[in-house]
Amino acid sequence: MLDRPDRLRAFLEQLHAILVKQQLEKTPAQLVNSAFDLLGQSLGEAGEKPARRLPICNDWLEPALELGGNGSAPRRHLLNIFRALEPRLHWHRRSGSLSAGRTFYEGHANAMLIGPGGLEVRDDVWLGLTLMAPQVNYMRHQHPPEELYLAMTCGEWQQGDGPWFARGPGETVHNQSMIHHAMRSGETPLFTFWLLRP
Ligand SMILES: [Fe+2]
Repeated sequence: MLDRPDRLRAFLEQLHAILVKQQLEKTPAQLVNSAFDLLGQSLGEAGEKPARRLPICNDWLEPALELGGNGSAPRRHLLNIFRALEPRLHWHRRSGSLSAGRTFYEGHANAMLIGPGGLEVRDDVWLGLTLMAPQVNYMRHQHPPEELYLAMTCGEWQQGDGPWFARGPGETVHNQSMIHHAMRSGETPLFTFWLLRP
């Protein structure tokens, strides 16, 4: 048994349970399985970044968590554990985000639970989250690791030059390696977890 702090362990167990129920296609299922295998095999270093909230968190985090927990006991449980972990997170803006305009810069915040700058620091699995105010576009980006988003609220995603598509609470988006992707919020704040295996 790994000596992972209780709340983080409980969060991971609940997240895993939700993802297992998604009936994901083969590739995203492999990403989930391999990431949780690694998390089950070893423990990273305890994170040392000081807790820090950004102004957007004070305005939109609680409304997003309320929305995300509506109508689903498993999601509500996950978000309640998250609430208990959140005061220790180091929220940050995406690097270079000011170049994408003031609305994006001030209207989003990211944090890592697991990975660089997270509560558990390690390189092999990154588990993070994004909060966006309503009517914000998250700048198009790409990266070598494939990525799975688990939406907690409604939002829209785009892959490559494809059409925008909506995802609601508990739904996933799988981004293949190096695909350009973006997301945007509508009338409500957008809150999503994301999982990568660099
Ligand atoms: Fe991404």
